[in-house]
Formats: sequence, C-alpha cells, structure tokens
Amino acid sequence: MRELHRLAFGDDEPVPALVDALRAGPRTTSLVATVDERVVGHVMLSGCRLDALPRLVDVCTLSPLGVLPEFQGRGIGTRLVADALAAADRQGVPLVFLEGSPVYYGKRGFADAAEHGFRPPSLRYPPGAFQVARLSSYEEWMTGTFVYSDVFWDFDCVGLRGERLKNAGSGSH
Ligand SMILES: CC(C)(COP(=O)(O)OP(=O)(O)OC[C@H]1O[C@@H](n2cnc3c(N)ncnc32)[C@H](O)[C@@H]1OP(=O)(O)O)[C@@H](O)C(=O)NCCC(=O)NCCS
Repeated sequence: MRELHRLAFGDDEPVPALVDALRAGPRTTSLVATVDERVVGHVMLSGCRLDALPRLVDVCTLSPLGVLPEFQGRGIGTRLVADALAAADRQGVPLVFLEGSPVYYGKRGFADAAEHGFRPPSLRYPPGAFQVARLSSYEEWMTGTFVYSDVFWDFDCVGLRGERLKNAGSGSH
C-alpha cells in the first residue's frame, strides 16, 4: 500500500506515512483492489468528529484513495469509493467527509458539504473541495464543524498552502 500511494501521489506527498499513522489510530477501514493478486488500489476510512450543537458525532473521512497509474481510468477508484461508503453505512457512520475534486466525488455519492450546512476544518480548502456523503444513519440535527483526527494535522494534510492553494481550481484535487 505504501508503494502504491508513492506511485499514485508522487514522491513529494506524505501519503504513505499518513496511511501508516492512520492504521495505528481509531476506527479505520482499509479496502484494497487487486488484479491477479496484485494490490492496485487502496482506500481508507478513518475516524474523525463533527462538532455538532448537541454533542460530538463520530464521523469518518475517506482518505487517501489511490490507484496505481497504469490501472487508472478503469473504474477501480469508483468501485473503491462505493465499497467504502457501503462499509461506512454498515458500520452506522452517519457522515463521510473528504477534501477532493467535486468533479470526481460529486458523481460518486458526495455533495458540497458547505451547501449542506457543514463548516470545513480549515480556510485552506480549494473551492468546492469540502465534500460530504450523508448515509442512512444521518439525522437533520447533525450539522456543525468537521474536525479531522490529529494524524491529519500532524502530517499537515488538511487543505493546501501557498502556490498549490492559489492554483487550485474547482476541478483539481
Ligand atoms: C483519482 C483516482 C483515485 C481515480 O481512480 P481511477 O481508478 O482512475 O478512477 P475511475 O477509473 O473510477 O474514474 C475515472 C474518472 O476519474 C477522473 N479522474 C482521474 N484523476 C482525476 C483527478 N486528478 N481529478 C479529477 N478527476 C480525475 C477521470 O477523468 C475519469 O472521469 P470520468 O468518470 O468522468 O470519465 C486515481 O486517478 C489516483 O490514484 N490519482 C492519484 C491520487 C489521487 O489524486 N487521489 C485522490 C485524492 S482525493
């Protein structure tokens, strides 16, 4: 999985180490896609919180999602997202948040989280990147600020900075 994310995201991204750290934390689910017994895709769910008015709510984030470059564009990412949302739903998770392309995730069960009354954990999200999937145990009162687990902050993996933020349009990751 480490190698897969290194190849999918590139050498400059801390994603392999992020995955290692998340696996040691609470409420994680890892799903892999295999082709001929080779792991070619991986998606991870991990526990985060929603700071709602009545109480904190246990929610998840879907991150990271990676598919080996030579296996991209064959529907593997789509299937991993669908299976991850189904797994979260079975676990009774009401909401799954992520930061990603609205073009990609908007067709795969996610919607603009700000439009649904949620607040992002950072001002450094590109336009439209803050997204949510509302699952069957979601209830109307569950609104508030999405709070990442410490691991995402430790790796500075929340939002973008500098040129990357400036250059990020709504169609990019
Ligand atoms: C993004 C990623 C997981 C998609 O996986 P995949 O198996 O290629 O996706 P699928 O084959 O299911 O879907 C292909 C679609 O994704 C789109 N897509 C691929 N990369 C994209 C990107 N960076 N931004 C937006 N859309 C992207 C393709 O244009 C195609 O669109 P279509 O459905 O309108 O034809 C894969 O390209 C990847 O690993 N990228 C590098 C890591 C990354 O950016 N992960 C996402 C972090 S939020």
